[in-house]
Amino acid sequence: MRVLITGGAKELGRAFSEVLGAQGHQLVITGRDEKALDAAGTELKAKGVDVETHVADLADPHATPKLIEGLGNLDVLVNNGALGGPVGPTWQVDEDDWWRTFEVNLRGTAAAMNAAIRTMTSGRIINVVSNAGVHRWPYVTAYSVSKAAVIKLTENVAIELKRRPIAVLSYDPGMVDVGLMGRGCALDSGNPHEQRIATWARSQRDNGRFTPVEQSAGLLARIVSGEFDHRSGGLLTPADG
Ligand SMILES: NC(=O)c1ccc[n+]([C@@H]2O[C@H](COP(=O)([O-])OP(=O)(O)OC[C@H]3O[C@@H](n4cnc5c(N)ncnc54)[C@H](OP(=O)(O)O)[C@@H]3O)[C@@H](O)[C@H]2O)c1
Repeated sequence: MRVLITGGAKELGRAFSEVLGAQGHQLVITGRDEKALDAAGTELKAKGVDVETHVADLADPHATPKLIEGLGNLDVLVNNGALGGPVGPTWQVDEDDWWRTFEVNLRGTAAAMNAAIRTMTSGRIINVVSNAGVHRWPYVTAYSVSKAAVIKLTENVAIELKRRPIAVLSYDPGMVDVGLMGRGCALDSGNPHEQRIATWARSQRDNGRFTPVEQSAGLLARIVSGEFDHRSGGLLTPADG
């Protein structure tokens, strides 16, 4: 299958690219960081993966749609790219940073999804979300609220797609020791709100609440395969693995 993974060169997105590439899928990976994309492309190709890389900033609502429309055939879109957003009391953080998180996490995700739906004949769209979009995450509200919006968007669009063979699913990959949560655990900050997040993240990890990255990527691969299409509109979590 031809699979596009936004933010597929780094961290959790890279783990997704590795497992999907190893399974023989044809990959298209995007991000903003050209160097990271080039390195990921070279390393995946050395393992025999059929991969192309493209710079596409999700903050530009036209960049990823233009790429998707140009691809012609796409079977699966993994909307993985996201920002963690500002940390602190909602009324104190930079308002532009707060809204930029929505531009990337909600508008960028929706724009890519819409372009994929317009061009795909069949397949699936997987919107990577977070438990923070189901439960509250005070002091990280742009992230939490934007992910909640993506979960609700997914529920609605799945109904709109009922007569077409395209599934749309939310996937919470669990807390993993890379990317946002990996950096969260390592954070040593003078900012009390960031320090609070770091202490919480480490306590979650140390109490065994993290999901191994391979397990998280393994479940994503099963969703990519179509195993969960009957749950279109729903939210899948590591518990479904
Ligand atoms: N790590 C966790 O424990 C965890 C838990 C729950 C959910 N998640 C979700 O998993 C996904 C990946 O998270 P992560 O932890 O790997 O985060 P991360 O380390 O911050 O990586 C974010 C990825 O998104 C890309 N990205 C960010 N802004 C972008 C933009 N404007 N345009 C295009 N790409 C952009 C980045 O690539 P560039 O820098 O090249 O743009 C990078 O590949 C996210 O949707 C996140 O919400 C992660």
